[in-house]
Amino acid sequence: MTIIVTGGAGFIGGNFVYYELKHHADDKIICLDKLTYAGNLETLAEAFKSPQFKFVRADIADRETVYKLFEELKPDIVVNFAAESHVDRSIEDPELFLRTNIIGTSVLLDACRKFGITRFHQVSTDEVYGDLPLDRPDLFFTETTNLHTSSPYSASKAAADLLVQAYQRTYKIPATISRCSNNYGPFHFPEKLIPLMIINALHDKKLPVYGKGINVRDWLYVEDHCAAIDLIIRRGTVGEVYNIGGHNERTNLDVVKTILRILGKSEDLIEFVTDRKGHDQRYAIDPTKISTELGWTPQTRFDDGIKLTVAWYLEHRAWWEKIISGEYKDYYAKMYDNR
Ligand code: NAD
Ligand code: TYD
Repeated sequence: MTIIVTGGAGFIGGNFVYYELKHHADDKIICLDKLTYAGNLETLAEAFKSPQFKFVRADIADRETVYKLFEELKPDIVVNFAAESHVDRSIEDPELFLRTNIIGTSVLLDACRKFGITRFHQVSTDEVYGDLPLDRPDLFFTETTNLHTSSPYSASKAAADLLVQAYQRTYKIPATISRCSNNYGPFHFPEKLIPLMIINALHDKKLPVYGKGINVRDWLYVEDHCAAIDLIIRRGTVGEVYNIGGHNERTNLDVVKTILRILGKSEDLIEFVTDRKGHDQRYAIDPTKISTELGWTPQTRFDDGIKLTVAWYLEHRAWWEKIISGEYKDYYAKMYDNR
């Protein structure tokens, strides 16, 4: 089979490329990525050594190029990871999120319609469900929870999900959607909570915790997410949505303190800063459907995964040092100086 992985030079897409190369030696994996600030060919350095793998630089919102590629590559499966993915950036500049996340998804769906595929899989997020209150630990997102978005990022992802469902119903595109909780692990871009805190702590720099640090996220080790998507594209039912999460809820403050403990650094590095606008309080996934229907269960507990992740950042300094010494410096100054 030929699988197009869009956004494969990013965090989860890159891990998914490696997952597929490792587990499906007969498949051809083609990464289609625009290489935005978040895309990094160094993430794919090992993949380039495989004859199964090919990389194409392209923008999923560029219709002409996407059609040409589909005509030439004749993919069986398309897995769409490509997205603008950072909530804080979406609050600063929403428009790019609409172009990539909504128009880009629609162009891919049109290409699937025109050239025919056996499966289109949309990698979505639990953020399309909005948030849950902190004082109701009994509540979880299920696949039937109403969409109710808070940020331009989550609104753009929800719009894309609705388009996928519309194309599935109207044009009979064989599509599936997965909505996963927060991921962490190797190749996570330094702007996100966990890598940002690891890297700042390593430099004895202040750790900027938004608000009081009481917001809750449900953390999933990235390889477990990749395993779930792999199951869905091969065994999932067309037209279905699958929630993915492993019941690893932690407050942001807990996560930051855990990282400091692993690195042997002082909690004095923590600095509470102005809260994110519209900050979602709690995300929590009910993964019953994917567990019962496809037999998926997460393999990595948070306490183990966070140690593996810290170790990865210690062992791969060159990967992230190059990122943080580039245009990321301006981003960091804009978002955090005088916050
Ligand atoms: P990321 O920002 O690390 O990577 C995004 C990748 O998409 C980059 O390689 C970038 O170059 C590429 N890209 C961006 N715009 C593009 C365009 N127009 N055309 C082609 N490529 C483009 O993101 P991530 O954290 O790996 O997230 C991947 C997907 O998973 C996203 O769709 C995101 O919404 C979803 N998701 C992420 C999480 C999480 O915790 N990170 C959780 C659930 C779902
Ligand atoms: P993030 O990694 O941006 O993921 P998401 O917004 O998609 O959940 O943020 C995770 C949580 O950490 C979120 O509640 C915001 C918080 N946060 C901080 O407190 N400080 C930071 O510097 C960042 C980047 C995030």
